[in-house]
Amino acid sequence: MISFEYSQEQKEIREMAMKFAKNEMQPNAAKYDESGEFPTDIMKKAWELGLLNTCIPAEYGGTGFTTVDSVIISECLSYGCMGMNTGMMANDLALLPIVIGGSDEQKKKFLTPFTEEFKIASFCLTEPGNGSDAGGIKTTIKDGGDHYIVNGQKMWITNAGFADLFVLYGTSDPELRHKGISAIVIDPKSEGIELGAPEKKMGHKCSDTRAVTFNNVKVPKENMLGNPGDGWKIAMKTLDHSRPLVAASAVGGAQCALDHTIEYAKERKQFNIPISGHQAVQFMVANMAMKTEAARLLVTKAAWLLDQGQSNTQLASYAKAFAADSCMEICTDAVQVFGGYGYSKEYPVEKLMRDAKLIQIYEGTSQIQRLVIAKEIFTRS
Ligand code: CAA
Repeated sequence: MISFEYSQEQKEIREMAMKFAKNEMQPNAAKYDESGEFPTDIMKKAWELGLLNTCIPAEYGGTGFTTVDSVIISECLSYGCMGMNTGMMANDLALLPIVIGGSDEQKKKFLTPFTEEFKIASFCLTEPGNGSDAGGIKTTIKDGGDHYIVNGQKMWITNAGFADLFVLYGTSDPELRHKGISAIVIDPKSEGIELGAPEKKMGHKCSDTRAVTFNNVKVPKENMLGNPGDGWKIAMKTLDHSRPLVAASAVGGAQCALDHTIEYAKERKQFNIPISGHQAVQFMVANMAMKTEAARLLVTKAAWLLDQGQSNTQLASYAKAFAADSCMEICTDAVQVFGGYGYSKEYPVEKLMRDAKLIQIYEGTSQIQRLVIAKEIFTRS
């Protein structure tokens, strides 16, 4: 049975999340873009409404949202501001490895506090020398007797400066590549952790992004998720879950650019008529609308497959690549329709174009998604 209709509950979630995006996020998006300040107050309000940490199962105090519910929320929050939503989604990205690979005891210990209090988390996978080639990470997790010892540097870590919890991937021996990788929960206040300065970025300016260095950091043995060497599978399954959320964020950004463009095209007059009367503009807007809806359908299917307990690796990559690439095109075309005004910070589409770029890069570039798709087609199916 196929239905393209959201349930009554999903319609209500969407309405609530969109109201929050329009009332709390959108009016503040330019301000935070300008200041680069971390939007703690807005994230906290989202948490109070139950819009954060949507991956936490109900038995650990979470809302028990499905993956489809979560992508609906991600799209709406990104409609409000792609940059703020990056920080919000990064919490799920960091908590998912615990949901996927943690024991019951670890889930109670690490997930439940996020449902009781507003807290921030970071997913520490990428390194200065290993982004796309995640299997080649060099950070080590060595057995130190009654604890593990972590050494190495992580890069581009979202939320790092504000995090209450890190999930870190490291290896017992880099030569083993993915077979040596483990995942471990680390308290960011542990001795030996050094935070880099916030990165100066093109967009997503209010999202806190830093390098984090680990110097002989002692971590309790009970913080390892699964067994030593389970980290790679946990990371890949996490990305299968999180890529639809990121793809949904691209849909939210695209829908926002589309809505601004339609409104502007109806008002702006050239050659004595609104520019919406010119076929050149109509065709651009038609393409923008078509791609936004196509991306939303892919995102929904990638999320729905997970909710059915099915593998979604290929669909998650279709959704991530298509939605991110479409969002970039749509935001670029939005600037084009706005003309000179679009290039100015006075109008919102300039920020949308800068923010869209990152979605083609993080959580696996658009090229890596195509690599995953090709591997699924040629070697795994
Ligand atoms: N689920 C389960 N297992 C999987 C899997 C999946 N989705 N994908 C791969 N595997 C398994 C394979 O079956 C294989 O297992 P065996 O050894 O048993 O055969 C193993 O993993 C290795 O797979 P590959 O040979 O495909 O590995 P690779 O090294 O050639 O490439 C890759 C893997 C897909 C390119 C991976 O490195 C990747 O996803 N890279 C991108 C990294 C990424 O997305 N980083 C994002 C960082 S987080 C971030 O950006 C957050 C932020 O800022 C907000």
